[in-house]
Amino acid sequence: MKAAILIGGRGTRLRPFTLDAPKPLLPVLNRPFLEYQFQVLRAHGVREAVLCTSYRASDFRRVFGDGRRLGLKLRYARERLPLGTGGALKNAEPFLRDGTALVLNGDVLNAFDLSAFLRFHRSRRAEISIALTRVKDPTQYGLVLTDDKGRVRRFLEKPSWDEVESNAINAGAYLFEPGAFDHIPPGKTYSLERGLFPERLAAGATLAGWIAPGYWIDIGTVDKYLQVHLDILEGRAPFKPGESARPLKGLSPARVVSGPGVRIAPFARFGGAVSLGRGVSVGRGAQLSDCVVLDGVRIGDGARLERCVVGARARVGTHAVLGPGAALAGGSRVGDYSLL
Ligand code: GDD
Ligand code: MG
Repeated sequence: MKAAILIGGRGTRLRPFTLDAPKPLLPVLNRPFLEYQFQVLRAHGVREAVLCTSYRASDFRRVFGDGRRLGLKLRYARERLPLGTGGALKNAEPFLRDGTALVLNGDVLNAFDLSAFLRFHRSRRAEISIALTRVKDPTQYGLVLTDDKGRVRRFLEKPSWDEVESNAINAGAYLFEPGAFDHIPPGKTYSLERGLFPERLAAGATLAGWIAPGYWIDIGTVDKYLQVHLDILEGRAPFKPGESARPLKGLSPARVVSGPGVRIAPFARFGGAVSLGRGVSVGRGAQLSDCVVLDGVRIGDGARLERCVVGARARVGTHAVLGPGAALAGGSRVGDYSLL
């Protein structure tokens, strides 16, 4: 089976970090996020994928090339202007038509059992199957109502609270039969969630919804981007830090990891889960808890960081305080004794 991964969005809710890199390439424990999805694909025998690119399209080819290094055969489909999730998929149709295709949003991490999803899809003889997950706040996602046989009755993107009748949402993973592509208009902006899914339901097509068990996250906001790090480091997500995120030698529990070339001055203290990028330096007596510090950041003496994300090559002055929710842009500076 071939996969298509939708990665052309601008990632506006994850600014300022997505001004420097597209969301699926942002590092998670010092590896591009998409590599975790590739890991799931490979584990289920998927060897070929087409990346549906638009925003900063050439960045992906530069990082992943033909995919051989990752055990995959990667192809690239490019939209000059973003065509929306449906238009993007239609644009990649020539790569996908020869069988059931797996389609993934490029910003979700889900250790789901693809083989079980496929069995479900076949047993329901569905044109499209949608993986579902349960969340506390469905208004941020696509609400999916199903009957007791798993047939989708309604798909409502970003519902308001008074429309929320269930907590099952679109997890951003689909199985598509080739015929489903015929219902996507070519060469124009079109949405799967606001266009294709509701339209196919209205036409009486079979769409099936399968609850994907296990860990799921969409990393699309700063808070969620931080959260995926904490979840992996604290063992809630079934993924392991790779070679580029090693437990810090000597002074820390395994929940603090760093890339190569990190320098830690005496009396620095760590709490909770912390991810340090390559070449980060942490000043004397600095305190870090539950935070993500990207490559090349310098943290001054006595600085305090808590539940925040620091962009690559930023400078944090001595005794500066970055509190919960702070998101420091790559290359920026925070003065000594500043409070953020
Ligand atoms: N190629 C391409 N072109 N990709 C796009 C485009 C486009 O025009 N627009 C969005 N994408 C990609 C994004 O890069 C992202 O990986 C994925 O499609 C989903 O877009 P988001 O902008 O992250 O959507 P969302 O998170 O608000 O909602 C979507 O995901 C939820 C699950 O995380 C929807 O599919 C919801 O229904 C779903 O619940
Ligand atoms: Mg998203």
